[in-house]
Amino acid sequence: MSVILIGGSPGTGKTKVASILGAKLSVEVISLTVLAEKAGCISMKDKVRDTGIINEDCLVDAIVKEVEEKRTRVVVEGHYIDLVPGGSVEIVFILRTHPAVLRERLAKRGYTESKVNENVEAEVIGVCQMDALDSFGEAKVLEIDTSHRKPSDSVDTMIELMKNPAQGNRIDWMHQLEQEGRLEDFLRD
Ligand SMILES: Nc1ncnc2c1ncn2[C@@H]1O[C@H](COP(=O)(O)OP(=O)(O)OP(=O)(O)O)[C@@H](O)[C@H]1O
Ligand SMILES: [Mg+2]
Repeated sequence: MSVILIGGSPGTGKTKVASILGAKLSVEVISLTVLAEKAGCISMKDKVRDTGIINEDCLVDAIVKEVEEKRTRVVVEGHYIDLVPGGSVEIVFILRTHPAVLRERLAKRGYTESKVNENVEAEVIGVCQMDALDSFGEAKVLEIDTSHRKPSDSVDTMIELMKNPAQGNRIDWMHQLEQEGRLEDFLRD
């Protein structure tokens, strides 16, 4: 059993890319959001942040059960990928989207301004990237820029990188925005 993880900030394309990758590799795709709901791991709604609250212990149990039952390769996508036990993880893709593009995508979803800002700031800082590196280590974590390409092109890159992980590179929006002279537009303090 081995797991291909797909993580990233909201709106970076996890669900879309995972479904294409799953189809190309002929493996099942597990959404952690769907799994958390199915297993009853989402408690009350956080009204201020307009999001459900996940019971992490509950979701870990559900993941272990689901992944161990499979005994085949699976794609797992969503937030909370850090809850997947590292021993079963083959490779981790963190999808990244330029903060200006991400802001547009999230605004189009009808998110409130504060929810857009919170998520865009997390992408600028690279929260998902750092968490994944902490949990799974440099060698397993690869980053994919989904800002200006079709989802299927991102998937082709992922398949190439699985054959040749050394070709991966790190993405640093903070540095890039500084060079573009617009870091202040994306960080409030
Ligand atoms: N290169 C790309 N890769 C992935 N998605 C892209 C790309 N370009 C544009 N998109 C679009 O970005 C949107 C991202 O949607 P998606 O729901 O897959 O994100 P997500 O990361 O799963 O978000 P959430 O965390 O809220 O579930 C989709 O409308 C998708 O078509
Ligand atoms: Mg999704």
